[in-house]
Amino acid sequence: MDKLELSRQEIDRIDREIAALFCRRMEAVRDIASYKRSHGLPILDSQREAEVLSQHLQAVSCELRDYYADFLQSVMDISKRFQAQANRKESALQVELGARSYDVIAERGCLSRASELLNLSRRVLIVTDDGVPAQYAAAVAAQCKEPLVVSVPQGESSKSFTSLQQLLKHMISHHMTRNDCVVAVGGGMVGDLAGLAASLYMRGVDFYSIPTTLLAQVDSSVGGKTAVNFDGIKNIAGTFYQPKRVLLDSDVLVTLPRRQLAAGLAEALKMAVTSDPELFIIFEQGDTFPRLDGIIRRSVAVKARVVAADERESGLRRVLNFGHTIGHAIESTHPELLHGECVALGMLPMCSETVRERLLPIYEKLHLPISCELDRKAIKAYMEHDKKRTGANLLAVEAAEIGHFSVRPISIEELAERLSCIERGAETK
Ligand code: GLY
Repeated sequence: MDKLELSRQEIDRIDREIAALFCRRMEAVRDIASYKRSHGLPILDSQREAEVLSQHLQAVSCELRDYYADFLQSVMDISKRFQAQANRKESALQVELGARSYDVIAERGCLSRASELLNLSRRVLIVTDDGVPAQYAAAVAAQCKEPLVVSVPQGESSKSFTSLQQLLKHMISHHMTRNDCVVAVGGGMVGDLAGLAASLYMRGVDFYSIPTTLLAQVDSSVGGKTAVNFDGIKNIAGTFYQPKRVLLDSDVLVTLPRRQLAAGLAEALKMAVTSDPELFIIFEQGDTFPRLDGIIRRSVAVKARVVAADERESGLRRVLNFGHTIGHAIESTHPELLHGECVALGMLPMCSETVRERLLPIYEKLHLPISCELDRKAIKAYMEHDKKRTGANLLAVEAAEIGHFSVRPISIEELAERLSCIERGAETK
């Protein structure tokens, strides 16, 4: 065996030892990540890095010191990346759907780290609306290799075939391929529209969701429902198309007015009433706004569980419609009310007396409506066109106790009678 071969064998042995040591080092890094996470400590500790460098450099000869410094620095950089990834895995919520599973990353400031978390090294269609602060789409665009930004007018009227065509035309004219992707930066309307465009273009390109309203963060951005309205019917044309990843950055919520936040909280409260008694207690304890991050996480955890169990809404997922049967009908006759406010109103007639008594003080704290003027005829007419109608009945969700729900067909007549508990002038209180 010649000298070169012997040296190569020696290097192979050393590399094997380094590989084993590397694995041990990463295990230690994982433990440190977990400790730091539980104690709220930052990943980067520059003082500790300087100590490591100065201590260990003494262990090598002067000749090797510069090289060893580079080596140690790379090892520390790799460790930081590994720690960040370990933290992310730990904090991410998973929507388990087999090969279509995805993460929901709920971290303050994650919008500005979108390029670390999403594959943006390609052509990226960013869809937003003119009511969303432009800096959010711009921050994402700045992290993309080839960004294209389309802003549609704010409001439900953009959830249309016209807007859908506009997006598809844009994708065609910019020669987007099957390997490119769509990112929604906005509320529920933007997510529904952009998700539908992503699902249709070339039979489906990657879709990422970055919801900027609380309502979209706690509900519509997770679960893969996409749609446009057509012929006067809400969400009549759509697909189930799951995003590849969802980023929830609660920092973007600072630009939302309190009323919008409260309306978003109504959807979180919906999850609490039917599925999460501990979340309900958080609402009852008050101080809701400072506890937003925890509320978002818990609500998304409920949603992720429900979607994983029933992606296509043939059973359990119906629970997410709690408050929506009457809520949507109120929304159609009260354009001045926000969606979440209508859902809040729609939940009250579907609760037992005891649940309603616990809900009302929460509504009061959040300034959610507890009653409104009702045009019963118009509401009944709307319910007659509901997609969940079978004959004279609608499949509706009721909550007899906090954390429990049932789904059963209820006649439109009975639902209309129940409206009396939210009719202005006949408040439940
Ligand atoms: N927002 C109701 C659902 O995703 O099923």
